[in-house]
Amino acid sequence: MSDDVIYRTDALIAEDIDAYLEKHQHKTMLRFITCGSVDDGKSTLIGRLLYDSKMIFEDQLAALESDSKRVGTQGQEIDFALLVDGLAAEREQGITIDVAYRFFSTENRKFIVADCPGHEQYTRNMVTGASTADLAVILIDARKGVLVQTRRHSFLCHQLGIKNLVLAVNKMDLIGYDQTQYDAIIEAYRAFADSIGIENFTAIPISGLAGDNITTRSENTDWYDGPTLMQHLETVEVRSDANLAEPFRMPVQWVNRPNLDFRGFSGLVASGSLKVGDPVRVLPSGKTSIVSKVVLFDQEMEEAQAGQSVTICLADEIDCSRGSVLAEADSPPEVSDQFEATIVWLDDDPMLAGRAYSMKLASQTVSATVAEPKYEININDPGSVGSQLAAKTLKLNAIGVAEVTTDKPIVFEPYAQNRALGGFILIDKITNRTVGAGMLNFSLRRAQNVHWQATTIDREEHANLKNQKPLVLWFTGLSGSGKSTIANEVEKALNRMNRHTFLLDGDNVRHGLNKDLGFTDADRIENIRRIGEVAKLMADAGLIVLTAFISPFRAERQMVRDMLPEGEFVEIFVDTPLEVAEKRDVKGLYKKAREGKLKNFTGIDSPYEAPERPDITVNTVEMTPAEAAEHIVRSLGALK
Ligand code: ADX
Repeated sequence: MSDDVIYRTDALIAEDIDAYLEKHQHKTMLRFITCGSVDDGKSTLIGRLLYDSKMIFEDQLAALESDSKRVGTQGQEIDFALLVDGLAAEREQGITIDVAYRFFSTENRKFIVADCPGHEQYTRNMVTGASTADLAVILIDARKGVLVQTRRHSFLCHQLGIKNLVLAVNKMDLIGYDQTQYDAIIEAYRAFADSIGIENFTAIPISGLAGDNITTRSENTDWYDGPTLMQHLETVEVRSDANLAEPFRMPVQWVNRPNLDFRGFSGLVASGSLKVGDPVRVLPSGKTSIVSKVVLFDQEMEEAQAGQSVTICLADEIDCSRGSVLAEADSPPEVSDQFEATIVWLDDDPMLAGRAYSMKLASQTVSATVAEPKYEININDPGSVGSQLAAKTLKLNAIGVAEVTTDKPIVFEPYAQNRALGGFILIDKITNRTVGAGMLNFSLRRAQNVHWQATTIDREEHANLKNQKPLVLWFTGLSGSGKSTIANEVEKALNRMNRHTFLLDGDNVRHGLNKDLGFTDADRIENIRRIGEVAKLMADAGLIVLTAFISPFRAERQMVRDMLPEGEFVEIFVDTPLEVAEKRDVKGLYKKAREGKLKNFTGIDSPYEAPERPDITVNTVEMTPAEAAEHIVRSLGALK
């Protein structure tokens, strides 16, 4: 290829881009989602919107026509559903999100539509799609009317802060464009909408297949005098306009530091605008500075605005890193570590109250625990969608309200005010799955009133006085594996070496500190959380702490490890196969469990998650307790 050709190609691309930007730059953008059950005709409707806005490339169209002929489409020329499903199949190769985003534009506006699978178990996709949408099209099959799905989707959209709801009553052709039936559906929907606080919605009678009231007014519905779907989508007021009026907020995604002369903070502006020379506050530290530069792509700008991805430079060298939030100096967002939140559970395994999950909110990642729900919100019982139910946990697709505590303060705003700073996801630390999505409602006042008291004699001084390095020797294993016996031997050996120790034992602690706890998953998590806190205090006091608890879950053992300084948590796996522990049955509990007289017994009807990388393992089939203890003490020497 000659230079000449390259040059011309570049010029052409540049010209195209200029023309494209010129044409589209003044258009507003509408993000919307479509919700509906499997057969409501969602794919056909989206296909029709794309087709009518001429967003399909010629070659794709040709392929579609021949495909449609092959599968036969009951006299229709083109099967629009085929188009959308085809695109979806393409995307799904290698991409794991189940929400398909499509882009199209008309003369007046740009659109991003999130297409969420409609089946009941796809709440998670809907939540993903809805969290960024300005508008939702709720599809109803005119023959079926308002279904449980319709209620659930509407409720979720409402909870997720979507202000514009369109009720698209589809397949009007199949009910002969009958106004009476249409009116009855709207009536039923209005009653429901009122009951859950949806103030208004726009209803449109359509047929995705026949094209009625999609882009052109239909003669078949001369009784209808509202807009077509496209007219409505093109003219409805969008949130991004409103976002500009809010105070400035930009979560920092990364610190841009290509050389020593430049240090900028990059991110997507969530709301408001900020000019060069304006005062700015960095949170959570609260330090202030002045905007010295705004860079968009590689151009210097006078102003940064909501919706733009920019780099902002400050006049002073102040602390600011990924996760910090830049805000208008005199109206900063809140900082807190305890909240009330509305949570949608997205995982097959139910939520575990007390478990530490990773929480991502804007560009911040922290560790968060969710308390037992205050209540679950009913989204299944058609008669009372939105009512409160008692709940101890949240199962797949359930929505509930609960208190959330984070391990460090985060910068946030209530979701209703700012979706970017109020919406979060919860990730399981072990499996890395996204298990929940949530909205922060408000911070709890007590969080602001409890402060950390600095003490003069710190942990180092306690340890120095005892002439030892504090440690937590965490024994884990099945009931009857020998944890207590071996821990006891290890403590004796350490005492002989003049070490200051303390042994916390499961059976003993459960008589006092934890006598209110049983053996459900949630109680075991709380059991370990408390033991972890006590062990940490004792380590702060300079002690070598030994703990002997089944501690069946990896996540909580990891939580305690994370609470302590690096190297102070030593996980000791007392490895005894279930058959062996059961045969020993020192306390006769396995027998009871097998007879069904003892529920939730570890190894029988409650899980034990063996450590994947324990610091020390002792195999009690091959070693006596004394030998195991000796092995541990020797290993501890080697660990230092
Ligand atoms: S843990 O799972 O929460 O870590 P922990 O070690 O405190 O358990 O208590 C376990 C001890 O409680 C067992 O050694 C046994 O003596 C007793 N126990 C009573 N019921 C159960 C049960 N359902 N499962 C396991 N242990 C039980």
